[in-house]
Amino acid sequence: MSSPSSPPDRATLLESLRDYVEQLREEGLEGLPASTTPAPGAIAKSTAPERAPRVPIADSPKLEVTPGPSIELISKYPGLEKTSTLEELRDFIGECTRCKLAPCRTNLVFGVGNPNAQLMFVGEAPGADEDARGEPFVGRAGQLLTDIIERGMGLSRSDVYICNVIKCRPPDNRNPEPDEVAACEPFLMRQIDLVQPRAIVGLGTFAVHAILKIKTPISKLRGHWHELRGIRMMPTFHPAYLLRNPGDKRLVWADIQEVMKFLGMPIPRRGGSAT
Ligand code: URA
Repeated sequence: MSSPSSPPDRATLLESLRDYVEQLREEGLEGLPASTTPAPGAIAKSTAPERAPRVPIADSPKLEVTPGPSIELISKYPGLEKTSTLEELRDFIGECTRCKLAPCRTNLVFGVGNPNAQLMFVGEAPGADEDARGEPFVGRAGQLLTDIIERGMGLSRSDVYICNVIKCRPPDNRNPEPDEVAACEPFLMRQIDLVQPRAIVGLGTFAVHAILKIKTPISKLRGHWHELRGIRMMPTFHPAYLLRNPGDKRLVWADIQEVMKFLGMPIPRRGGSAT
């Protein structure tokens, strides 16, 4: 047994560092500057496109929605726009080798749930449990998402549709890279077009930034409606973040209540927290 003063081993240190980086990422930090002094000739430039102002939506003067990006779908993979069901889309994707994640996966994690769902949840990418089972959100974070859906919203997991931006697990759960997002994103867009949910919940920094093409911290985006392919999207914190920061569950519950109100669902009187 190690004494209280013995230094932590390398694996423990790495685990804590990974948790800390993940937490910073959830809070919106994208990376650390290499140097506080700009390189000679460097020009400060934001990569985020300019956002349109929030506009009120037609059916409720109280709700506002920020228009989202238009993500091109058709020319990337000819024939994708002809898929007319989720099964056809899954067949179209096939044993995908369109990006460098293909050799790392056990199973491609397409999505589960009601193909006509009113509500869709979009996460980041499969983790180890999801990769092993071929189903999104089945690990610890997935259990929390299931609790939000079932105990919080009073729905069943099979009432909603659940998927990720990226369909294959990045090695060591690293962040998906831009070329991987670009390769996989058309499939998410087609899933959205086919399910046509009334609302989408974007789970966590990565998914929301990848979808909306902005870098605004999730803590600022959450609680406000955005628009994606003509559908309203509510960003909120990722369930994995909530496992480390249970105090923020109340914020996610507030976001979920907004979604429930929009869908015309009864809000439980003594809510306050889904889990
Ligand atoms: N985290 C995600 O973003 N998606 C999953 O499917 C599991 C964990």
